[in-house]
Amino acid sequence: SGIMEGSNAKRGLWSSRLAFILAATGSAVGLGNIWKFPYVTGENGGGAFVLVYLLCIAAIGLPIMMAEVLIGRRGGHSPVNSLKAIARHDKLSPAWWMVGALGVIAGFLILSFYSVIGGWAVSYVGTAASGQLTGQSADAIGAIFSDLLGDPITLLVWHTLFMGLVMLVVAKGVRSGLERAVSILMPALFLLLLTVVGYAMTTGEFGRAVAFLFQPDFSKLTTAGVLVALGHAFFTLSLGMAVMMAYGSYLPKNISIAKTSIAVCIIDTAVALLAGLAIFPIVFANGLEPGAGPGLIFQTLPLAFGQMPMGSLFGTLFFLLLIFAAWTSGISLLEPIVEWLEEQKGMNRTVSTLGAGFVCWALGIASILSLNLWSDFAPLGWIGMLEGKTIFDLLDFFTANIMLPLGGLLVAVFAGWVMSRKAMEDELALSAPMFRLWYITVRYITPVAVGTVFVYNLIGA
Ligand code: PHE
Ligand code: NA
Repeated sequence: SGIMEGSNAKRGLWSSRLAFILAATGSAVGLGNIWKFPYVTGENGGGAFVLVYLLCIAAIGLPIMMAEVLIGRRGGHSPVNSLKAIARHDKLSPAWWMVGALGVIAGFLILSFYSVIGGWAVSYVGTAASGQLTGQSADAIGAIFSDLLGDPITLLVWHTLFMGLVMLVVAKGVRSGLERAVSILMPALFLLLLTVVGYAMTTGEFGRAVAFLFQPDFSKLTTAGVLVALGHAFFTLSLGMAVMMAYGSYLPKNISIAKTSIAVCIIDTAVALLAGLAIFPIVFANGLEPGAGPGLIFQTLPLAFGQMPMGSLFGTLFFLLLIFAAWTSGISLLEPIVEWLEEQKGMNRTVSTLGAGFVCWALGIASILSLNLWSDFAPLGWIGMLEGKTIFDLLDFFTANIMLPLGGLLVAVFAGWVMSRKAMEDELALSAPMFRLWYITVRYITPVAVGTVFVYNLIGA
């Protein structure tokens, strides 16, 4: 049973498994699925990368998600305090709270550039709604995008708006309405993606896109690509920064951690794969470059909206829903640091939201400038692996590929080697063979896999 009796009840439990799945899905499904997955897949050669990514989701992401939810439910508090409470109860080293601290910092750094990309989506609502995309060539669509990147002031305006939206919800501390919105707007996003996939099937290059995504060509997979696949699995599932721990603290006892985690992983993966199936046929049909980088969806999807019937309407709706998906993820990125400031520094919610949000917003300016005035500035370029990486690239690299897997590794070690096995058997309530499978995974497979990928990349650097 929970180690802090009554603590869950006082904070109000999720009304049902569905409520938890909605909140967790709101955090998981975001720019990671629609913006990042297609472009990192394109940059890393397709099929083999996708296969490694899917393996990472199933063999590392899912077990870690279960571990995070379990720790959160058992601790019954915010991540930092849950880790402290479990450590105190089980007479462990109090230093484990630092896993939570690592997550707090990672979330803060991620949000700084996540909000800039969220701003791109905001900008494209207007572009689509005004009919500017209708009938445009790939070149003209590409020019709209490069004009946006070249204009720091416009980028700053949309970044500010996006960050403001995130801060508004976090400051008010209200989520209930948001979760209900997730249950309507996520399926709507899914349907719109299906619509674009339908359009993509008419481009004549659908087969090629399917082959690109699902026929592994291992000669295209690099050591660095494996690290990106691993890092993206953590990023897309919102793992390694204690978000799922925080949500797990609200999950009622009688609900299966395994089943709910599987549901979230399946939804997240389905959205990413659909995004890939929507985008790559357009890439091939228009002779675009799969490895075009972070602009990929903004140079391809607008082409589809410019050509399909009622494209301006669909395009506007699509970017609105993308903003919504990014918004719910952004909230889960800011929430941990605000909670931490409240609990540890005794600041009130409004002040901590304003403070943390402002610093994050200011840091976002460095990412904005990386897209234009500072696009040739690679502060750590002398390190082989980081050659040519702008500040924006570095923030993305260090958070997704280093901090999140490291956070996940520590969660795995905590669950696999530190917490009592009996406690976890109780929490997970799995059949004996399934429990063993999970336990062996967090105890051995995850630490060895993450460690190996890290070491190989260090040697390569
Ligand atoms: N999972 C989110 C996405 O795919 C991003 C995110 C990462 C949110 C980490 C919270 C924590 O867009
Ligand atoms: Na995701």
